[in-house]
Amino acid sequence: MYKDTKLIFAYETKTKPNRLIAPLDLDKPDLASFYGEAYSEELPDLPDIDEVSVIRHYTNLSAMNYGVETGTYPLGSCTMKYNPKVNEDLAALDGFTMTHPLQPEETVQGNLELLYSLEQKLCDLIGMDHFTFQPSAGAHGEHTGLLLIKAYHEDRGDTKRNIIIVPDSAHGTNPASAAMVGYQVREVASNEKGRVDLEALKELMSDQVAGLMLTNPNTLGLFETEVEEITKLVHDCGGLVYYDGANANAILMQARPGDMGFDVVHLNVHKTLSTPHGGGGPGAGPVGCKDFLAPYLPKPVVVRRQDGFALDYDRPKSIGKVRAFTGSFGIMVRAYAYILANGAEGLKEVSEGAVANANYVLERVREAYDVASEEAPMHEFVITGARQKKGSGCNTHDIAKRLIDYGFHPPTVYFPLIVPEAMMVEPTETESRADLDALADALLKIAEEAEDKPELLRGAPHQAPISRPDETRAARKPIVKA
Ligand SMILES: Cc1ncc(COP(=O)(O)O)c(C=O)c1O
Repeated sequence: MYKDTKLIFAYETKTKPNRLIAPLDLDKPDLASFYGEAYSEELPDLPDIDEVSVIRHYTNLSAMNYGVETGTYPLGSCTMKYNPKVNEDLAALDGFTMTHPLQPEETVQGNLELLYSLEQKLCDLIGMDHFTFQPSAGAHGEHTGLLLIKAYHEDRGDTKRNIIIVPDSAHGTNPASAAMVGYQVREVASNEKGRVDLEALKELMSDQVAGLMLTNPNTLGLFETEVEEITKLVHDCGGLVYYDGANANAILMQARPGDMGFDVVHLNVHKTLSTPHGGGGPGAGPVGCKDFLAPYLPKPVVVRRQDGFALDYDRPKSIGKVRAFTGSFGIMVRAYAYILANGAEGLKEVSEGAVANANYVLERVREAYDVASEEAPMHEFVITGARQKKGSGCNTHDIAKRLIDYGFHPPTVYFPLIVPEAMMVEPTETESRADLDALADALLKIAEEAEDKPELLRGAPHQAPISRPDETRAARKPIVKA
């Protein structure tokens, strides 16, 4: 499947002549005076290789990467679903890309209107009163949302509130964000069904609670059925409730966090509204809030005035800026395009498809793997490699690696932390019945192999250019040159 590719420096120089480009015959420009001290007559030590070899080298390299445009990518939780190409075409329009945030407002009215209109659409979808687009990613949104909660309590002089409650099934970024904002984190246990244990939550309530963060559907893929009791409990003791809306693709046009009683929410637009993932980079994690938190929102906010749209910086209670200007504008163009292209009906189909696809694959593989919860999941499900580990000794890691040989990206593994040997699978709504069947077939085949030919799993992947790197060092200290 993969072509072994050496480093470009390892090629023999000029194995074939470069006849495709005629040498330039120009007067030598005075580069020395242009570049000043940076100018050197010495040529850099770059490989001198013919064009076709360079093209083949980089084309082969690009084919070594697996992406959502290569095949099914069922990475639960941090899922980035397929981004329709029309989003890219629209985001590339000159009117969007050739403008600058420091231009006079009257020359960027269309861009401001897009942000204003997107804010209204997200408020409708999620049941909030306002949205900011400044945060760059989901975790950045959490941090921003918690700053709003903190600003609210401090503004009221309620400074003893120093605790944020986070369920043990939460995404790892939730406790990390709370700690970064300076809160103590208290964990609330899940009950035997995999949902927040209300009795355990009641015991944590006190006048020191600043708020609770809830991922819903949670990281087991389950909808928190007692969500209104949860939000009421926290409100009754004076805390605020934060909705981790990274999984909002499961509830689009079905239920709204605002109606469930939440005060603040962030969205992972890469998963819900088909935009590239941020990873702290040029992505977006918009944060929505109810009216009473609006004074604390990052500035500027886009407002509509009699003479047009404007950026309002006059926000004395604002938490300030969490990113320059209005955040990743191009990402918001893509999210807007996705909402308009789908319309209300289409977005409803998105959530229905996400849930149906997850349940379909789960039902097909249920017999072959242990399942983390017997409850019907929403958009993602958690199975485990515990049975296989106990049997032949092949663990979740081996199963995930073997999936690569079958042409799939592995699911998220060993997460959520509360499920030993977890595999978190999110097929997403874009996959066809045939794609889903192929994924389920591969998982079933691997379960058989785990019994009959465990060595196949232990040595997997056999088809990839790299088999089993030290994953921590490969991620933290990648060697990208010879
Ligand atoms: C439930 C949940 N919360 C938060 C995050 C963090 O989002 P990001 O990776 O954009 O920072 C994720 C990851 O996608 C997630 O699945």
